[in-house]
Amino acid sequence: MPPFLAGRKNEQDEFSRLLEQDIVLKNLVLTGLRGIGKTVLLETFRPMAIQMGWLWAGTDMSESTSISESNLAIRLLTDLSVVTSSIVVSVSERQGAGFGQQPVTVPTSLNFQTLVAIYESTPGLVADKLKGVLEFVWPYIKMGGKHGIVFAYDEAQNLADHSVKEQFPLSLLLDVFQSVQRKGICFMLALTGLPTLFPKLVEARTYSERMFHVIFLKPLDQQATREAVRNPIKAAKDCPIGFNDESLTTVWQQTKGYPYFIQYVCREIFDIWVQALNSGQPPPSVPVDEITLKLDTDFFAGRWAKATDRQRQLLWVISLLPNCEEEFTVQEVIASEGNKSLPKPFNNSHVNQMLGSLAEAGLVYRNRHGKYSFAVPLLAEFIMRQAARNSVSPLFSGLGLE
Ligand SMILES: Nc1ncnc2c1ncn2[C@@H]1O[C@H](COP(=O)(O)OP(=O)(O)OP(=O)(O)O)[C@@H](O)[C@H]1O
Ligand SMILES: [Mg+2]
Repeated sequence: MPPFLAGRKNEQDEFSRLLEQDIVLKNLVLTGLRGIGKTVLLETFRPMAIQMGWLWAGTDMSESTSISESNLAIRLLTDLSVVTSSIVVSVSERQGAGFGQQPVTVPTSLNFQTLVAIYESTPGLVADKLKGVLEFVWPYIKMGGKHGIVFAYDEAQNLADHSVKEQFPLSLLLDVFQSVQRKGICFMLALTGLPTLFPKLVEARTYSERMFHVIFLKPLDQQATREAVRNPIKAAKDCPIGFNDESLTTVWQQTKGYPYFIQYVCREIFDIWVQALNSGQPPPSVPVDEITLKLDTDFFAGRWAKATDRQRQLLWVISLLPNCEEEFTVQEVIASEGNKSLPKPFNNSHVNQMLGSLAEAGLVYRNRHGKYSFAVPLLAEFIMRQAARNSVSPLFSGLGLE
């Protein structure tokens, strides 16, 4: 967690409104690029939910959870049991065999074993069994005076259906929650993940469009960026270092408000200043070029390495589009000056096919309306730097390659 979470008040208010629902009509999708601050924002949602009378269950959604329907069921039962295990219920049991034995009620905790027992004794498919457990548990949650349960899953873009193996864990999750919510059971999904998440949900079940309220996290604005840097220093009362307006403007120009970059750049600056301080030197001005180079090596290089020469050329063409940091279409790429200036311009099928493989490599993503965006923040600026550094004309060779 950052010492101060800057500029996310509107998003927190939006989540508060979801928590006010007595019947869950909208669940949450919290999405955005890598390092935009999804995980830390989700962490702040937890105390908000608890404060408003909800229980909170969930964890990271790993790929193994999404391998099969039964894995997903075990995941949900495990997370549910964490919040229900303190509830004790009376269960009827027949003791001994034979006639004449009266059923006796035995106090049982709603722990994992009990939930699994209910799951297994419910007839039907995995979806029926899961619904059986959720419906069984709900009255006890209500009796305990709770509003409902938030099932929060980070990295939920890992969810997927596997038609070849006839396993549909993603659809199962959506079907089960939609069904219990229709019965007035107050269990809400809060799914967090990369921008591929929501298109995936809609592809699996078109009703996801209505089932989720989507919060698409944007970078921080300039004011919030300043607060993200200054407030923790202010709070740590005797911190010997401070950022003046000029340094803050540099941080803003370098990071454009992307939280991961803000944290990275400021840490570098901070370390340099502390070293200067310790050796009795006045703090130097911010070494922009050195920090940028380090960021390029640490953050961008690994991602860039995933692209082939020709794909890099395409990424370069895209990075020349004025709207490259928002969204762009295949047509715009083909018609662009950058493309036309290449010795071998890309045609429609090239671009379509290459954007497909770049999406698999995590460099771009396709939204629900068939438009594309860079999946890595500030990628266009990196590509420009890369081109300049290599001083190789991308017109004649793979970008950044000899
Ligand atoms: N609003 C904010 N104010 C200050 N710092 C922030 C803010 N949001 C995120 N950060 C910092 O930025 C970094 C990235 O945040 P976080 O890990 O939540 O991003 P993420 O979107 O979950 O990334 P990923 O997609 O890789 O999981 C963290 O170190 C976090 O402390
Ligand atoms: Mg995260």
